[in-house]
Amino acid sequence: MSDAIENLYSEERKFPPPEKFALEANAQVGIHERAAAAPLEFWSEEAKKLHWRTPWKKLLNDSDAPFYKWFEGGRLNVTESCLDRHVVSNPNRIAFHWEGEPGDTSSLTYKELLEEVCRCAGALRQMGVGKGDTVAIYMGMVPEITVAMLACARIGAAHSVVFGGFSAESLRDRLDDASCKAVITQDGSWRRGKVVPLKENVDAALIDQQTVQSVLVLQRCENNVEWNNSRDHWWHEIVPSQSDFLEAEEMDAEDILFILYTSGSTGKPKGIVHTCGGYLTGVSSTFKSVFDIKDSDLYWCTADCGWVTGHSYIVYGPLANGATSLIYEGTPDFPNQGRWWDLISKYAVTILYTAPTAIRTFMKWGEQIPTSRDLSSLRLLGSVGEPINPEAWMWYHEFIGGNRCPIVDTWWQTETGSIMISPLPGITTTKPGSAAIPYPGIDVAVVDEEGQEVPPGHGGLLVIKSPWPSMLRGIHGDPDRYRDVYWSRFDGLYFPGDGCKLDDESYLWLLGRVDDVMLVSGHNISTTEVESALVDHSSVAEAAVVGRKDSTTGQAIAAFVVLKGTIEGCDSLIQELRLHVAAKIGPIAKPASIVFTPDLPKTRSGKIMRRLLRDISEKRKLGDVTTLANSDIVEAIRDGSVKSSED
Ligand code: WT7
Repeated sequence: MSDAIENLYSEERKFPPPEKFALEANAQVGIHERAAAAPLEFWSEEAKKLHWRTPWKKLLNDSDAPFYKWFEGGRLNVTESCLDRHVVSNPNRIAFHWEGEPGDTSSLTYKELLEEVCRCAGALRQMGVGKGDTVAIYMGMVPEITVAMLACARIGAAHSVVFGGFSAESLRDRLDDASCKAVITQDGSWRRGKVVPLKENVDAALIDQQTVQSVLVLQRCENNVEWNNSRDHWWHEIVPSQSDFLEAEEMDAEDILFILYTSGSTGKPKGIVHTCGGYLTGVSSTFKSVFDIKDSDLYWCTADCGWVTGHSYIVYGPLANGATSLIYEGTPDFPNQGRWWDLISKYAVTILYTAPTAIRTFMKWGEQIPTSRDLSSLRLLGSVGEPINPEAWMWYHEFIGGNRCPIVDTWWQTETGSIMISPLPGITTTKPGSAAIPYPGIDVAVVDEEGQEVPPGHGGLLVIKSPWPSMLRGIHGDPDRYRDVYWSRFDGLYFPGDGCKLDDESYLWLLGRVDDVMLVSGHNISTTEVESALVDHSSVAEAAVVGRKDSTTGQAIAAFVVLKGTIEGCDSLIQELRLHVAAKIGPIAKPASIVFTPDLPKTRSGKIMRRLLRDISEKRKLGDVTTLANSDIVEAIRDGSVKSSED
């Protein structure tokens, strides 16, 4: 029998938690074992750390699987756990320090944040929004985006945050799908010194749109905007005059907190639904244990609130724990490539949570940029969004973490709501490239095509075996698709769609989407492993690998490589890289072709778009590329204006 995915890459380096870190960590040895022995008990304890108005009657209702319910009968409003209780205990603690791209700054204490949330909630009510409605939020990374989200939660309206980099058309699809009643936006948003015309996009999205009745507009860039008097309201005209306290709407644990659209690589975007009680339990618990948050920490998650990472680990998880966070509005290269590291030293950031795509970009720019800044405040680093190649992990560890900070590589999805697989930084010995082990109370396995668990040392498909509190409750308006996408591959198991291997110590190594797995001469080879072998070479910053049709081998491996700094690609380097992959993971994985390119096509959230590279490699007509962050690179690769070799 052949493995569902081969296990090729082996990584021997290990990093136990530093002794002092381990001694002081929030999560201590024993937590995994306790949770495994009684997972429901564990989640019940975690949920009790939140503020409930009425305790739940039934912890987990699994009578209508996969439509699970958690904390049935429990009543709460998530903003009381995130704001009111901290205002009682520590009103002047800072919730958010914020830095705008042009360099303007502000800070909000928990008291100020609650007051602004109440005023915004009052304005929404005045606009006719109430419990059970859905509000779209289409903004940049200003403090008011967190206010807008929490204001919706305060009055029991679901929010649907649409990333500010999406087009009017994408916004329109999402407004229609969720029947949004209102939109909260800005005149414009700063990006590399230019104005992104958010209000103009909203106007375009609302032409003949049926459900949206009002638009709340924050003034940020003071760019000119069109105005519709019967529909549009300036934030500064209707928010400040509202009362600074508004009683929170009491919600059922299973009422909807938000909808968030996730596109995946194909098909119509799915409106992932999350509810109040279970979601807050998951994000609050994981934030405390994975990020080891302490009162003395200054935490920075570089994600955008348009993605689930921003929802869970900028807004709800940190606020539920009373944390102090940094929010930055702009891009890492404005006004220069040192902006992030300047922010870390200015604010004395202690915990940094970012994505592999950012780390690989910094590798390309060169380590002298971060190493010329003072990063000594950092004590913990996190990664999320894609597999982190072992060499990128090592670079992050050495040049950002000064060889002293544990790294938590956190695997999860929009659908899972909170972190599912991750080291706990005071307990788990980490291995570069592995997300390590499941979070306490989470039950996962790696299985073969038939759903049988694979033994250590083998690759297969990741599954989650038991329900968990922050799981999605479905796809908005499409229960059949929910069942079909996540629950139909294996009976009773949640299938996230990712490949994974188990090493000899049962550590989990995520291998990317199974749609990306290549079939070469009868071997299932994961793109991640070949990419990591390429990134292992000292000249390579980033690599993407796809399988293109081949008459002899079924698929042949086509690689696209971004070199570090000023290194030039040449034929001898192509040969060297092919041999490097062969030596690192085996001749079967040697790329048939290698193309050097200055960049890779990526989604707006930074994931490599392998599907497009496959289209290019097989010389197909390309589909719509406007949703890419960097669509021009596709043209450059296709026109062959970059150095390549074909075998
Ligand atoms: C997919 C989910 C989770 C928040 C951001 C992305 C990939 C995510 C990791 C990781 C390997 C990862 C998976 C997953 N992914 N984190 N640490 N290691 N792969 O959310 O857009 O819903 O994407 O991202 O393929 O299924 P998302």
